[in-house]
Amino acid sequence: DHTHADTLRTPIVAVLGHVDHGKTSLLDTIRGSAVSEGEAGAITQHIGATDIPLDTISGMAGELIDPTDFDLPGLLFIDTPGHHSFSTLRARGGALADIAVLVVDVNDGFQPQTEEAIDILRRTGTPFVVAANKADTTPGWNPQDGEPIQKSMEAQSERAKSMLDENLYEIIGQLSDAGFSADLYWRVQDFQKNIGVVPLSALTGEGVPDLLTVLMGLSQRFMKEEMAIDVTGPGEGTVLEVKDERGFGATVDTVVYDGVIRNGDTVVVGGQDEPIVTEVRALLRPRPLAEIRTEKEFEKVGEIGAAAGVKIAAPDLDRAMAGAPVRVVRDRTVEEVVEEVKAELAEIEVETADNGVVVKADTLGSLEAMANALREAEVPILRAEVGDIAPRDIAVAETANQDEHKAILGFNVDLLKNAESDLENADVKLFKNEVIYQLVEDYERYVEEKQR
Ligand code: GTP
Ligand code: MG
Repeated sequence: DHTHADTLRTPIVAVLGHVDHGKTSLLDTIRGSAVSEGEAGAITQHIGATDIPLDTISGMAGELIDPTDFDLPGLLFIDTPGHHSFSTLRARGGALADIAVLVVDVNDGFQPQTEEAIDILRRTGTPFVVAANKADTTPGWNPQDGEPIQKSMEAQSERAKSMLDENLYEIIGQLSDAGFSADLYWRVQDFQKNIGVVPLSALTGEGVPDLLTVLMGLSQRFMKEEMAIDVTGPGEGTVLEVKDERGFGATVDTVVYDGVIRNGDTVVVGGQDEPIVTEVRALLRPRPLAEIRTEKEFEKVGEIGAAAGVKIAAPDLDRAMAGAPVRVVRDRTVEEVVEEVKAELAEIEVETADNGVVVKADTLGSLEAMANALREAEVPILRAEVGDIAPRDIAVAETANQDEHKAILGFNVDLLKNAESDLENADVKLFKNEVIYQLVEDYERYVEEKQR
């Protein structure tokens, strides 16, 4: 029933996993195959996201998909850089992503960031599938470019097949250790109860049709109701990144998950001090099919509706926070919307104490994840903030009563140049890591050694 298509938004699919396991390659392959299907024009590049329409997906999935089974418009993929925590991707206190693809290298299996991603998927209750990537690296593999994986498996030697199987069962075992019952996706009856594992290769494209089929099936069956939105309502989104853009000053790369944002709209954006009230000067999108990460040439659009990624240029955005909400005011009062944004930010609770360590993180989501990890480790927090490490943080850390608390734990942040000499002269220890639990472990080890 295609009449629904106007009011059903595109599901947001986050691609996550350990560094180098192939997230970006997988998306490149999906984009690339789309181009070779002659659907290049249909694909739209967004800020931090790629929109693949249903027709293109069914073209790629071939015999695996019957497009008449679906009335969702397609899939919006968000790539999460390996060093970034997926926890940035939040919306209304929950997960921004409707579903997720957890990319795991078949040879490497679970790695620290895989574990971290799984924790967040569990906590947010996000349905996911596992892409067991790099199947082509199995010794003796006979590549079957772009074919469904079972067809490709038929073309493999017994030896190659059993080697791949061994790796796949290793991953299924690791999922089970993490508390998820999982199996190869074609054996899964109920995707709400069991995690489907899709063996594939981002390099050769085999298994990619299967992944797209499973993702469409999952969203159609379990998420259709949540996809029904008022497409003309006031836009709601989440800041992925705050970036300086030449000619525009500070801009926010945003994923819009509900309603529409128009040029000239008054918006409220979560800021480091308080919500920022500003007016949209430009809505920017990368030009079609250009590589998003290096793209400098933007196209100005008059409005953008969910689900989509867009760069918003507006005054006063330099104190905006990654992970914070963006809300269009439209026919409500500014105060109402400011309160909404404040309430949403207040949900991201970081309990602070009179004594404890200083925590800095790159996004609100990762700050929350840090706070959770520290609570579990029974490490009190004196101050927790989003942003790079500044002289003020060192001054605050120095005020801690106990020596072991004179410490700054930085997740995915840098030490600002003007804070370097302060740190040298202060009796404050700095810990930096791109994996949360390692950061906490480093700190715990330091405390243990200090107490000896
Ligand atoms: P980060 O963004 O840094 O976390 O990495 P990523 O997960 O996006 O990995 P990326 O796609 O950059 O791939 C990492 C490396 O693995 C690259 O050298 C890819 O060419 C290679 N690679 C990715 N997928 C495959 C695959 O299916 N087969 C083979 N043989 N190599 C792959
Ligand atoms: Mg990448």
